[in-house]
Amino acid sequence: VGVRIRGAVLEEIGRERPYAVSRPLSVGQVDLAPPGQGEVLLRLHAAGLCHSDLSVVDGSRLRPVPMLLGHEAAGTVEALGAGVTALRRGDHVVATFLPRCGECAGCLTQGVRPCIPGTAANSAGTLLAGGRRLARDGRPVHHHLGISGFATHAVVDARSLVRVDPDVPPAVAALLGCAVLTGGGAVLNTRPPQPGSAVAVVGLGGVGMAAVLTALAHDGVHVVAVDGVPAKLDVARDLGAHMVLSPDQVRDAGIRAALVVEAAGNVRAFETAVELTGPGGCTVTVGLPPPDARASLALTALVAEGRTIIGSYLGSAVPARDIPLFVDLWRSGRLPVERLISSTIPLDDINAGMDALADGLAVRQVIDLAAE
Ligand SMILES: NC(=O)c1ccc[n+]([C@@H]2O[C@H](COP(=O)([O-])OP(=O)(O)OC[C@H]3O[C@@H](n4cnc5c(N)ncnc54)[C@H](O)[C@@H]3O)[C@@H](O)[C@H]2O)c1
Ligand SMILES: [Zn+2]
Ligand SMILES: [Zn+2]
Repeated sequence: VGVRIRGAVLEEIGRERPYAVSRPLSVGQVDLAPPGQGEVLLRLHAAGLCHSDLSVVDGSRLRPVPMLLGHEAAGTVEALGAGVTALRRGDHVVATFLPRCGECAGCLTQGVRPCIPGTAANSAGTLLAGGRRLARDGRPVHHHLGISGFATHAVVDARSLVRVDPDVPPAVAALLGCAVLTGGGAVLNTRPPQPGSAVAVVGLGGVGMAAVLTALAHDGVHVVAVDGVPAKLDVARDLGAHMVLSPDQVRDAGIRAALVVEAAGNVRAFETAVELTGPGGCTVTVGLPPPDARASLALTALVAEGRTIIGSYLGSAVPARDIPLFVDLWRSGRLPVERLISSTIPLDDINAGMDALADGLAVRQVIDLAAE
């Protein structure tokens, strides 16, 4: 027998703003089947709101509905399906938004290329083994990125999970799974910053701000933060960024950085990131604009300056390898992940939370699921 859970289900794509009024997500009861072979039942304790959730709500990333959203979550293991040997009941885990089968051509690239069956399952709204464990009134509800974290409980494939020590608070653990893994991984897994070099980040939501924090964890690195929302620049300055700029100030500032991370998800931000990249430098693009987005590039400068442009999904990370590194950095005090949390909200406020995210007002809003 499964369990009856409370979760936030996206009913329909493209409802009008404000979402607090149109309510694209309805919070209510959902049936969760027991974990199958290789799967795990989790009690979730915290989940963050990421732009990639909003992109499903507003239709920039088309996914099947109804879908129980949420892909940045942490909790504890309540029950194990058959064949799960790497985890035990009571373990604290971070969910990551792309399972790793560990065997495909993507997994063999050690993070450069996403897992192929994992990507296919995410597109179909199923778990890695196929099928759905979520239903309402006998009709299936799709999983979001193998997690569906806006809920009290989840069944996920064990290959979506990384164990963490219990001293990591749930909200920090949740952020490790997307914002930190993506933004931090974009820094560590591409061109790790060298002392005396500059790192710039364009777009200061949870992902970009995590890239700023990760760059600041390196001694002697000059960190430049760019966003169109002045309040975001204030946060970046408080965190220790050495220079903050609006997109309009970039050209006059004359900054050329060795590593530039684009974490906004639109064409203008990508072009700004390319412009900020210095000779021999590297632009890492992490944002996910609608799939038909096209950018314009100055090709001769790219060639003559020997620059590199990299696309990075999931921070080009191997989660089981990288999340422990971020935990160590957090524990040493050099990666204050808590400071990415702009507010803690109840599950019932999720539609208003999507409005705040769309307005660029939040770094990371975290849902306190332990209280549900
Ligand atoms: N590649 C991946 O694996 C991965 C993982 C998570 C999120 N993402 C994507 O990364 C992006 C960022 O996610 P988030 O949750 O941090 O988003 P967010 O909405 O919280 O933050 C985006 C920020 O970019 C700023 N911005 C918008 N246009 C800008 C511009 N032209 N110049 C400078 N700043 C600009 C906004 O003001 C906002 O502060 C999204 O596109 C998201 O879908 C990708
Ligand atoms: Zn995300
Ligand atoms: Zn794989």
